[in-house]
Amino acid sequence: LTLTGTAAFAQGYPNKPITLLVPFAAGGPTDTVARVTAQSMGKALGQTIIVENATGAGGTIATARAARAEPDGYTILIHHIGISTAATLYRKLPYDTKTAFAPIGLITNAPMTIISRKDLPPNTLAELVTYIKANGDKMTFGNAGLGAASHLCGMLFMTAMDKQVQTIPYKGNGPVMNDLMSGQIDLTCDQTTNTTGPIGNKLVKGYAVTTKARLSSMPDLPTADEAGLKGFEVGAWHGIYAPKGTPDDVVQKLTKALQDALRDPDLVKRFTDINTDVVPQDQATPAALKAKLDSEIDRWAPIIKAAGQFAD
Ligand code: MLT
Repeated sequence: LTLTGTAAFAQGYPNKPITLLVPFAAGGPTDTVARVTAQSMGKALGQTIIVENATGAGGTIATARAARAEPDGYTILIHHIGISTAATLYRKLPYDTKTAFAPIGLITNAPMTIISRKDLPPNTLAELVTYIKANGDKMTFGNAGLGAASHLCGMLFMTAMDKQVQTIPYKGNGPVMNDLMSGQIDLTCDQTTNTTGPIGNKLVKGYAVTTKARLSSMPDLPTADEAGLKGFEVGAWHGIYAPKGTPDDVVQKLTKALQDALRDPDLVKRFTDINTDVVPQDQATPAALKAKLDSEIDRWAPIIKAAGQFAD
């Protein structure tokens, strides 16, 4: 009996390490989600998952690399909400975001927080807005480039204030956080995955969380809505993708490994400690990620077009 086609292919899968491309720098929120997830998924698959930070162009370099990778399950991509905003922000992407991938499943949702260097004078969000309106021309806002979650949150924040602050693009919010903690830049808006420790340890100043409800572990941090930015809400969701054309049974093995990983108590604790919510099992599926991706592309497109920020 000879097995042919995808069944034969997937039978031994995975028989060598898998590369997980991370679109942003080491030490940042996506990198953290990637490394924690890769460890547990690797356990479930009985193979090593190697995390590779392929940074640049707001995450679109890694995304393009994943889109053109061999669809054999050995190169996969982690990305967040930015994969959907980049679809409109970039006029010329070398891939069609809605069709270039075989989605594996959603992983986590992370609230975002508006933060500053610790010695910036304002102490509340209302004071911060007044301060930015007066001094914003001299201030700097670090983000991870057009297509980052920090870019989207910053864009919404500046639109809500009706005041622009000069943005400094980095290769990820790991380096943004280093420069914010050392006082070289003034502001950012970043995922709790990256900010829970620095806010808690008073290495940066936290003004607001961008979700509907306060964080149970930081009950004193108001929501942006409560603190005066009515209806201001944005959060980063993360998912895993394989290139389009990846055999169905390889996709199924990766999805099963993701679901197993998200039940791993070790993983759940590590994410809970940094206010990063693990999705329910029925969201860690190709259909749920596909629906999320498509609806988020459609949701952000008019908002980005109205803000008029594009890259070629
Ligand atoms: C990162 O990992 O650096 C972030 O997810 C960047 C961002 O999108 O703000």
